[in-house]
Amino acid sequence: MTILIKGGTVVNATGAVPADVLVDGERIAALLAPGFPLRADETIDATGKYVIPGGVDAHTHMEMPFGGTFSADTFATGTTAAAWGGTTTIIDFAVQAKGTSLLSTLDKWHQKAEGGCAIDYGFHMIVSDVDDASLKEMESCVDAGVNTFKMFMAYPGVFYATDGEILRAMQKARDIGATVMMHAENGIAIDQLVAQALAEGRTAPVEHGLTRPPELEGEATSRAIALAKVTGSPLYIVHLSAAQALDAVTEARDTGQNVFAETCPQYLYLSLEDLAKPGFEGSKYVASPPLRPKEHQSELWRGLRTNDLSVVSTDHCPFCFKDQKELGRGDFSKIPNGIPGVEHRIDLLHQGVVKGEISLERWVEISSTTPARMFGLHPRKGVVAPGADADLVVYDPTARQVLSAATHHMNVDYSAYEGMEITGKVDTVLSRGRVVVDGSGFRGSTGHGRFLSRELNQYLV
Ligand code: URP
Ligand code: ZN
Ligand code: ZN
Ligand code: ZN
Repeated sequence: MTILIKGGTVVNATGAVPADVLVDGERIAALLAPGFPLRADETIDATGKYVIPGGVDAHTHMEMPFGGTFSADTFATGTTAAAWGGTTTIIDFAVQAKGTSLLSTLDKWHQKAEGGCAIDYGFHMIVSDVDDASLKEMESCVDAGVNTFKMFMAYPGVFYATDGEILRAMQKARDIGATVMMHAENGIAIDQLVAQALAEGRTAPVEHGLTRPPELEGEATSRAIALAKVTGSPLYIVHLSAAQALDAVTEARDTGQNVFAETCPQYLYLSLEDLAKPGFEGSKYVASPPLRPKEHQSELWRGLRTNDLSVVSTDHCPFCFKDQKELGRGDFSKIPNGIPGVEHRIDLLHQGVVKGEISLERWVEISSTTPARMFGLHPRKGVVAPGADADLVVYDPTARQVLSAATHHMNVDYSAYEGMEITGKVDTVLSRGRVVVDGSGFRGSTGHGRFLSRELNQYLV
Protein backbone atom coordinates (compact mmCIF):
# COMPACT_ATOMS: atom_id res chain seq x y z
CA MET A 1 0.00 0.00 0.00
CA THR A 2 1.45 3.37 -1.06
CA ILE A 3 0.15 6.84 -0.23
CA LEU A 4 1.33 10.07 -1.85
CA ILE A 5 0.83 13.28 0.13
CA LYS A 6 0.99 15.96 -2.54
CA GLY A 7 1.35 19.72 -2.66
CA GLY A 8 2.19 20.46 0.96
CA THR A 9 5.07 22.12 2.78
CA VAL A 10 7.08 19.61 4.78
CA VAL A 11 8.06 21.14 8.10
CA ASN A 12 10.82 19.55 10.14
CA ALA A 13 12.70 20.98 13.12
CA THR A 14 15.50 21.78 10.66
CA GLY A 15 13.48 23.64 8.05
CA ALA A 16 10.42 23.85 5.83
CA VAL A 17 10.37 22.88 2.13
CA PRO A 18 7.67 22.25 -0.45
CA ALA A 19 7.77 18.49 -1.09
CA ASP A 20 5.56 15.51 -1.79
CA VAL A 21 5.82 12.62 0.66
CA LEU A 22 5.67 9.01 -0.47
CA VAL A 23 4.55 6.48 2.11
CA ASP A 24 5.14 2.79 1.48
CA GLY A 25 3.58 0.47 4.04
CA GLU A 26 4.41 1.68 7.54
CA ARG A 27 7.29 3.94 6.58
CA ILE A 28 8.15 7.08 4.68
CA ALA A 29 9.77 5.97 1.41
CA ALA A 30 10.80 9.31 -0.10
CA LEU A 31 10.50 13.08 -0.12
CA LEU A 32 9.97 14.18 -3.71
CA ALA A 33 10.17 17.42 -5.63
CA PRO A 34 6.65 18.88 -5.79
CA GLY A 35 4.68 17.37 -8.66
CA PHE A 36 7.13 14.53 -9.28
CA PRO A 37 5.17 12.15 -11.51
CA LEU A 38 4.37 9.08 -9.50
CA ARG A 39 1.26 6.99 -8.95
CA ALA A 40 0.28 5.70 -5.54
CA ASP A 41 -2.61 3.60 -4.26
CA GLU A 42 -4.02 6.63 -2.47
CA THR A 43 -3.35 10.36 -2.85
CA ILE A 44 -3.84 13.00 -0.18
CA ASP A 45 -4.02 16.63 -1.28
CA ALA A 46 -2.01 18.83 1.10
CA THR A 47 -2.08 22.00 -0.99
CA GLY A 48 -1.73 25.05 1.24
CA LYS A 49 -1.05 22.84 4.24
CA TYR A 50 1.90 21.69 6.33
CA VAL A 51 3.07 18.10 6.49
CA ILE A 52 4.64 17.60 9.92
CA PRO A 53 5.87 14.61 11.93
CA GLY A 54 3.17 13.23 14.21
CA GLY A 55 3.23 14.72 17.68
CA VAL A 56 5.04 12.94 20.51
CA ASP A 57 3.36 13.62 23.86
CA ALA A 58 5.91 12.47 26.42
CA HIS A 59 3.69 12.93 29.48
CA THR A 60 0.20 11.42 29.76
CA HIS A 61 -1.81 9.61 32.42
CA MET A 62 -4.44 7.25 31.06
CA GLU A 63 -6.47 5.27 33.63
CA MET A 64 -4.20 6.59 36.35
CA PRO A 65 -5.11 5.79 39.96
CA PHE A 66 -5.23 9.03 42.00
CA GLY A 67 -6.93 9.92 45.26
CA GLY A 68 -9.32 6.94 45.18
CA THR A 69 -10.40 7.42 41.58
CA PHE A 70 -8.92 6.97 38.08
CA SER A 71 -8.20 9.50 35.36
CA ALA A 72 -11.17 9.34 33.03
CA ASP A 73 -9.53 8.47 29.72
CA THR A 74 -8.75 4.84 29.05
CA PHE A 75 -5.86 4.03 26.72
CA ALA A 76 -8.51 3.58 24.02
CA THR A 77 -10.31 6.90 24.47
CA GLY A 78 -7.16 8.87 25.31
CA THR A 79 -5.10 7.67 22.36
CA THR A 80 -8.05 8.21 20.02
CA ALA A 81 -8.35 11.81 21.25
CA ALA A 82 -4.59 12.20 20.84
CA ALA A 83 -4.86 11.05 17.22
CA TRP A 84 -7.63 13.58 16.57
CA GLY A 85 -5.23 16.26 17.72
CA GLY A 86 -2.26 15.16 15.62
CA THR A 87 -0.37 13.24 18.30
CA THR A 88 0.77 9.81 17.11
CA THR A 89 2.91 8.73 20.07
CA ILE A 90 2.32 8.99 23.80
CA ILE A 91 4.58 8.07 26.67
CA ASP A 92 2.40 7.22 29.65
CA PHE A 93 3.38 6.70 33.28
CA ALA A 94 3.20 3.25 34.87
CA VAL A 95 2.65 3.81 38.60
CA GLN A 96 4.36 1.56 41.16
CA ALA A 97 1.96 1.05 44.06
CA LYS A 98 3.81 0.95 47.37
CA GLY A 99 4.78 -2.59 48.28
CA THR A 100 4.68 -3.87 44.71
CA SER A 101 7.53 -4.47 42.27
CA LEU A 102 8.49 -2.37 39.26
CA LEU A 103 8.24 -5.33 36.90
CA SER A 104 4.77 -6.34 38.05
CA THR A 105 3.79 -2.69 37.60
CA LEU A 106 5.12 -2.71 34.07
CA ASP A 107 3.19 -5.93 33.34
CA LYS A 108 0.03 -4.33 34.66
CA TRP A 109 0.45 -1.28 32.43
CA HIS A 110 1.15 -3.47 29.41
CA GLN A 111 -2.11 -5.28 30.11
CA LYS A 112 -4.02 -2.02 30.32
CA ALA A 113 -2.60 -0.65 27.08
CA GLU A 114 -2.05 -3.67 24.86
CA GLY A 115 -4.60 -4.02 22.11
CA GLY A 116 -6.32 -0.82 23.23
CA CYS A 117 -4.27 1.99 21.70
CA ALA A 118 -5.02 3.87 18.49
CA ILE A 119 -1.42 5.14 18.25
CA ASP A 120 2.01 3.95 19.38
CA TYR A 121 2.94 4.23 23.02
CA GLY A 122 5.78 3.85 25.47
CA PHE A 123 6.05 3.97 29.24
CA HIS A 124 7.92 5.83 31.94
CA MET A 125 7.98 4.30 35.43
CA ILE A 126 6.91 6.12 38.59
CA VAL A 127 9.04 4.81 41.46
CA SER A 128 7.15 4.94 44.76
CA ASP A 129 9.35 2.58 46.81
CA VAL A 130 13.07 3.26 46.74
CA ASP A 131 14.61 0.10 48.18
CA ASP A 132 17.24 -2.41 47.09
CA ALA A 133 14.70 -4.45 45.14
CA SER A 134 13.34 -1.49 43.17
CA LEU A 135 16.81 -0.15 42.46
CA LYS A 136 17.84 -3.55 41.09
CA GLU A 137 14.65 -3.76 39.02
CA MET A 138 15.39 -0.44 37.35
CA GLU A 139 17.96 -2.37 35.29
CA SER A 140 15.30 -4.78 34.03
CA CYS A 141 13.04 -1.86 33.17
CA VAL A 142 15.78 -0.37 30.99
CA ASP A 143 16.16 -3.74 29.24
CA ALA A 144 12.37 -3.73 28.72
CA GLY A 145 12.51 -0.36 26.96
CA VAL A 146 11.59 1.85 29.93
CA ASN A 147 14.61 3.97 30.87
CA THR A 148 12.97 6.99 32.51
CA PHE A 149 11.95 6.98 36.16
CA LYS A 150 9.73 9.63 37.67
CA MET A 151 10.11 10.60 41.32
CA PHE A 152 8.21 13.05 43.49
CA MET A 153 9.40 15.73 45.91
CA ALA A 154 5.67 16.42 46.42
CA TYR A 155 2.80 14.34 47.87
CA PRO A 156 4.26 13.15 51.23
CA GLY A 157 2.86 9.76 52.18
CA VAL A 158 1.87 8.92 48.61
CA PHE A 159 4.62 9.19 46.02
CA TYR A 160 7.07 11.37 47.97
CA ALA A 161 10.73 10.38 48.02
CA THR A 162 13.27 11.75 50.49
CA ASP A 163 16.41 13.45 49.23
CA GLY A 164 18.34 10.32 50.27
CA GLU A 165 16.05 8.10 48.22
CA ILE A 166 16.32 10.42 45.26
CA LEU A 167 20.11 10.37 45.59
CA ARG A 168 20.18 6.58 45.52
CA ALA A 169 17.87 6.36 42.50
CA MET A 170 19.97 8.95 40.68
CA GLN A 171 23.15 6.98 41.35
CA LYS A 172 21.46 3.95 39.85
CA ALA A 173 20.18 5.92 36.87
CA ARG A 174 23.68 7.24 36.21
CA ASP A 175 25.06 3.69 36.20
CA ILE A 176 22.49 2.17 33.83
CA GLY A 177 21.91 4.90 31.23
CA ALA A 178 18.58 6.00 32.67
CA THR A 179 17.14 9.44 33.33
CA VAL A 180 15.34 10.56 36.49
CA MET A 181 12.25 12.68 35.87
CA MET A 182 11.30 14.94 38.73
CA HIS A 183 8.06 16.36 40.04
CA ALA A 184 9.78 19.26 41.75
CA GLU A 185 7.65 20.87 44.44
CA ASN A 186 8.56 21.01 48.12
CA GLY A 187 5.77 18.76 49.38
CA ILE A 188 6.75 18.96 53.05
CA ALA A 189 6.36 22.74 53.17
CA ILE A 190 3.26 22.62 50.94
CA ASP A 191 1.53 20.16 53.27
CA GLN A 192 1.93 22.65 56.15
CA LEU A 193 0.45 25.47 54.08
CA VAL A 194 -2.44 23.24 53.03
CA ALA A 195 -3.16 22.22 56.63
CA GLN A 196 -3.07 25.88 57.74
CA ALA A 197 -5.45 26.95 54.96
CA LEU A 198 -7.96 24.22 55.82
CA ALA A 199 -7.73 25.02 59.55
CA GLU A 200 -8.59 28.63 58.71
CA GLY A 201 -11.59 27.55 56.63
CA ARG A 202 -10.01 28.45 53.30
CA THR A 203 -11.32 25.54 51.24
CA ALA A 204 -11.95 26.90 47.71
CA PRO A 205 -10.05 25.63 44.63
CA VAL A 206 -7.92 28.79 44.42
CA GLU A 207 -6.27 27.75 47.69
CA HIS A 208 -4.68 24.89 45.78
CA GLY A 209 -2.65 27.52 43.94
CA LEU A 210 -2.01 29.75 46.95
CA THR A 211 -0.66 26.89 49.09
CA ARG A 212 1.80 25.79 46.41
CA PRO A 213 3.79 28.99 45.83
CA PRO A 214 6.22 29.19 42.89
CA GLU A 215 9.16 29.63 45.27
CA LEU A 216 8.61 26.05 46.48
CA GLU A 217 8.82 24.79 42.91
CA GLY A 218 11.98 26.84 42.40
CA GLU A 219 13.52 25.48 45.60
CA ALA A 220 12.71 21.85 44.78
CA THR A 221 13.99 22.26 41.24
CA SER A 222 17.31 23.65 42.54
CA ARG A 223 17.58 20.80 45.02
CA ALA A 224 16.89 18.18 42.35
CA ILE A 225 19.56 19.79 40.16
CA ALA A 226 22.06 19.71 43.02
CA LEU A 227 21.36 16.02 43.67
CA ALA A 228 21.75 15.30 39.95
CA LYS A 229 25.05 17.17 39.91
CA VAL A 230 26.41 15.30 42.92
CA THR A 231 25.44 11.94 41.45
CA GLY A 232 26.18 12.66 37.79
CA SER A 233 22.67 11.61 36.79
CA PRO A 234 20.73 13.18 33.95
CA LEU A 235 17.62 14.97 35.14
CA TYR A 236 14.38 15.86 33.35
CA ILE A 237 12.07 18.29 35.16
CA VAL A 238 8.46 17.49 34.29
CA HIS A 239 5.62 20.03 34.04
CA LEU A 240 7.70 23.10 34.87
CA SER A 241 5.34 25.98 35.63
CA ALA A 242 7.24 28.72 37.49
CA ALA A 243 9.80 31.31 36.43
CA GLN A 244 11.83 30.45 39.57
CA ALA A 245 12.15 26.84 38.44
CA LEU A 246 13.08 27.92 34.92
CA ASP A 247 15.86 30.11 36.34
CA ALA A 248 17.32 27.10 38.13
CA VAL A 249 17.16 24.98 34.98
CA THR A 250 18.72 27.75 32.88
CA GLU A 251 21.62 28.13 35.28
CA ALA A 252 22.29 24.38 35.30
CA ARG A 253 22.14 24.15 31.52
CA ASP A 254 24.51 27.11 31.19
CA THR A 255 27.10 25.11 33.11
CA GLY A 256 26.65 22.14 30.79
CA GLN A 257 24.80 19.87 33.23
CA ASN A 258 22.51 17.21 31.72
CA VAL A 259 19.35 18.94 32.90
CA PHE A 260 16.28 19.16 30.70
CA ALA A 261 12.78 20.47 31.25
CA GLU A 262 9.31 20.40 29.77
CA THR A 263 6.39 22.72 30.27
CA CYS A 264 2.73 22.13 29.39
CA PRO A 265 0.13 24.11 27.40
CA GLN A 266 -1.89 24.87 30.54
CA TYR A 267 1.03 26.86 31.97
CA LEU A 268 1.37 28.81 28.72
CA TYR A 269 -2.33 29.67 28.38
CA LEU A 270 -4.11 29.35 31.72
CA SER A 271 -3.41 31.10 35.02
CA LEU A 272 -4.23 31.46 38.70
CA GLU A 273 -7.22 33.55 37.58
CA ASP A 274 -8.79 30.38 36.20
CA LEU A 275 -8.31 28.63 39.54
CA ALA A 276 -10.03 31.62 41.17
CA LYS A 277 -13.20 31.34 39.06
CA PRO A 278 -16.35 31.59 41.17
CA GLY A 279 -18.05 28.69 42.89
CA PHE A 280 -16.42 25.34 42.31
CA GLU A 281 -15.52 26.17 38.68
CA GLY A 282 -11.85 26.56 39.65
CA SER A 283 -11.62 22.81 40.36
CA LYS A 284 -11.44 22.23 36.61
CA TYR A 285 -8.01 23.87 36.70
CA VAL A 286 -6.52 22.04 39.68
CA ALA A 287 -3.26 20.33 38.76
CA SER A 288 0.16 20.22 40.36
CA PRO A 289 2.20 22.32 40.05
CA PRO A 290 -0.69 24.79 40.03
CA LEU A 291 -1.49 27.37 37.39
CA ARG A 292 0.59 30.47 38.05
CA PRO A 293 -0.02 34.22 37.88
CA LYS A 294 -0.01 35.37 34.25
CA GLU A 295 3.45 36.94 34.37
CA HIS A 296 5.05 33.48 34.39
CA GLN A 297 3.72 32.79 30.88
CA SER A 298 6.05 35.13 29.01
CA GLU A 299 9.00 33.62 30.89
CA LEU A 300 7.96 30.14 29.76
CA TRP A 301 7.66 31.25 26.12
CA ARG A 302 11.13 32.75 26.42
CA GLY A 303 12.40 29.45 27.83
CA LEU A 304 10.94 27.65 24.84
CA ARG A 305 12.79 29.99 22.49
CA THR A 306 16.12 29.62 24.30
CA ASN A 307 15.75 25.83 24.64
CA ASP A 308 15.97 25.98 28.42
CA LEU A 309 12.54 24.41 28.02
CA SER A 310 13.04 21.69 25.40
CA VAL A 311 9.70 19.92 25.28
CA VAL A 312 6.01 20.66 25.64
CA SER A 313 3.98 17.71 26.92
CA THR A 314 0.39 17.78 28.14
CA ASP A 315 0.49 16.00 31.52
CA HIS A 316 -2.96 14.91 30.30
CA CYS A 317 -4.76 13.69 33.42
CA PRO A 318 -8.53 14.16 33.02
CA PHE A 319 -11.04 14.00 35.84
CA CYS A 320 -14.71 14.74 35.19
CA PHE A 321 -16.12 17.89 36.76
CA LYS A 322 -19.38 16.21 37.72
CA ASP A 323 -18.36 13.07 39.54
CA GLN A 324 -14.62 13.37 40.16
CA LYS A 325 -13.52 16.98 40.78
CA GLU A 326 -16.60 16.98 43.03
CA LEU A 327 -14.66 14.88 45.57
CA GLY A 328 -12.95 18.07 46.68
CA ARG A 329 -15.97 20.31 47.20
CA GLY A 330 -15.42 21.88 50.62
CA ASP A 331 -11.77 20.72 50.72
CA PHE A 332 -9.53 21.76 47.82
CA SER A 333 -6.87 19.25 48.89
CA LYS A 334 -9.22 16.42 47.87
CA ILE A 335 -9.76 17.64 44.31
CA PRO A 336 -8.15 15.08 41.96
CA ASN A 337 -5.10 16.74 40.41
CA GLY A 338 -5.02 16.97 36.65
CA ILE A 339 -6.11 18.84 33.54
CA PRO A 340 -7.19 17.25 30.24
CA GLY A 341 -5.27 18.28 27.14
CA VAL A 342 -3.87 15.43 25.04
CA GLU A 343 -6.05 16.46 22.08
CA HIS A 344 -5.07 20.12 21.95
CA ARG A 345 -1.29 20.36 22.34
CA ILE A 346 -0.45 20.75 18.65
CA ASP A 347 -3.19 23.35 18.11
CA LEU A 348 -2.33 25.33 21.24
CA LEU A 349 1.36 25.43 20.36
CA HIS A 350 0.48 26.50 16.83
CA GLN A 351 -0.99 29.63 18.43
CA GLY A 352 2.58 30.36 19.53
CA VAL A 353 3.55 30.41 15.84
CA VAL A 354 0.55 32.57 14.94
CA LYS A 355 1.39 35.05 17.73
CA GLY A 356 5.11 35.14 16.91
CA GLU A 357 6.28 33.49 20.14
CA ILE A 358 8.04 30.61 18.34
CA SER A 359 8.99 29.76 14.78
CA LEU A 360 7.24 27.18 12.63
CA GLU A 361 10.24 24.85 12.94
CA ARG A 362 10.40 25.30 16.70
CA TRP A 363 6.71 24.29 16.89
CA VAL A 364 7.61 20.95 15.32
CA GLU A 365 10.75 20.61 17.40
CA ILE A 366 9.14 21.04 20.83
CA SER A 367 6.08 18.96 20.05
CA SER A 368 7.67 16.08 18.13
CA THR A 369 11.38 16.05 17.28
CA THR A 370 12.89 16.82 20.67
CA PRO A 371 10.62 14.50 22.68
CA ALA A 372 11.42 11.75 20.15
CA ARG A 373 15.16 12.30 20.62
CA MET A 374 14.97 12.88 24.37
CA PHE A 375 13.07 9.64 24.92
CA GLY A 376 14.98 7.37 22.54
CA LEU A 377 12.45 7.14 19.70
CA HIS A 378 14.33 9.05 17.00
CA PRO A 379 14.70 8.59 14.01
CA ARG A 380 11.64 6.31 13.92
CA LYS A 381 9.58 9.16 15.33
CA GLY A 382 9.88 12.93 15.28
CA VAL A 383 10.97 13.56 11.70
CA VAL A 384 9.59 13.54 8.16
CA ALA A 385 12.40 11.64 6.42
CA PRO A 386 12.86 8.46 4.39
CA GLY A 387 12.98 5.42 6.68
CA ALA A 388 11.05 7.04 9.52
CA ASP A 389 7.68 5.66 10.59
CA ALA A 390 4.93 7.24 8.49
CA ASP A 391 3.48 9.11 11.48
CA LEU A 392 2.37 12.21 9.64
CA VAL A 393 0.00 15.11 10.15
CA VAL A 394 -1.41 17.27 7.40
CA TYR A 395 -2.08 20.54 9.20
CA ASP A 396 -4.19 23.39 7.83
CA PRO A 397 -2.63 26.58 9.26
CA THR A 398 -5.52 28.87 8.31
CA ALA A 399 -8.60 26.84 9.32
CA ARG A 400 -10.43 28.17 12.38
CA GLN A 401 -11.91 26.19 15.24
CA VAL A 402 -13.29 26.77 18.71
CA LEU A 403 -12.25 24.37 21.47
CA SER A 404 -15.15 22.92 23.43
CA ALA A 405 -16.19 19.90 25.46
CA ALA A 406 -19.12 19.62 23.04
CA THR A 407 -16.75 18.71 20.20
CA HIS A 408 -13.62 17.24 21.78
CA HIS A 409 -12.96 13.50 21.87
CA MET A 410 -11.42 13.16 25.33
CA ASN A 411 -13.57 11.22 27.80
CA VAL A 412 -14.13 14.15 30.12
CA ASP A 413 -17.11 16.43 30.62
CA TYR A 414 -15.39 19.81 30.39
CA SER A 415 -12.70 21.62 28.44
CA ALA A 416 -10.10 23.73 30.22
CA TYR A 417 -10.04 25.79 27.01
CA GLU A 418 -13.82 26.12 26.52
CA GLY A 419 -14.60 28.74 23.87
CA MET A 420 -10.97 29.41 22.91
CA GLU A 421 -10.58 30.34 19.24
CA ILE A 422 -7.77 28.56 17.46
CA THR A 423 -6.16 29.32 14.11
CA GLY A 424 -5.08 26.04 12.53
CA LYS A 425 -6.55 22.58 12.49
CA VAL A 426 -5.48 19.00 11.99
CA ASP A 427 -6.65 17.82 8.58
CA THR A 428 -5.33 14.26 8.18
CA VAL A 429 -3.33 11.99 10.49
CA LEU A 430 -1.35 8.88 9.60
CA SER A 431 -0.03 6.44 12.17
CA ARG A 432 2.59 4.07 10.73
CA GLY A 433 1.19 4.52 7.24
CA ARG A 434 -2.44 4.11 8.16
CA VAL A 435 -4.86 7.03 7.85
CA VAL A 436 -6.38 7.28 11.33
CA VAL A 437 -8.10 10.67 11.04
CA ASP A 438 -9.32 12.55 7.99
CA GLY A 439 -12.24 14.69 6.84
CA SER A 440 -14.58 11.73 7.23
CA GLY A 441 -13.69 11.29 10.90
CA PHE A 442 -11.78 8.70 12.89
CA ARG A 443 -10.65 5.88 10.60
CA GLY A 444 -8.20 4.18 12.94
CA SER A 445 -8.73 1.38 15.40
CA THR A 446 -7.78 0.83 18.99
CA GLY A 447 -5.38 -2.05 18.73
CA HIS A 448 -3.34 -0.50 15.93
CA GLY A 449 -0.94 1.16 18.39
CA ARG A 450 2.19 -0.73 19.36
CA PHE A 451 4.44 -0.59 22.38
CA LEU A 452 7.69 1.31 21.74
CA SER A 453 10.81 0.03 23.43
CA ARG A 454 12.88 3.15 23.94
CA GLU A 455 16.62 3.78 23.67
CA LEU A 456 19.03 6.26 25.20
CA ASN A 457 18.34 9.99 25.52
CA GLN A 458 20.15 11.47 22.50
CA TYR A 459 20.89 14.76 24.24
CA LEU A 460 23.19 13.33 26.90
CA VAL A 461 26.71 14.70 26.85
O1 URP B 1 -1.75 17.37 38.65
C1 URP B 1 -1.13 16.57 37.98
N1 URP B 1 -0.05 16.97 37.34
N2 URP B 1 -1.55 15.29 37.88
C2 URP B 1 -0.87 14.25 37.27
C3 URP B 1 0.19 13.65 38.13
C4 URP B 1 1.49 14.39 38.03
O2 URP B 1 2.01 14.82 39.06
O3 URP B 1 2.03 14.53 36.95
ZN1 ZN C 1 3.95 15.31 38.52
ZN1 ZN D 1 1.92 14.01 35.18
ZN1 ZN E 1 -17.12 10.89 34.67
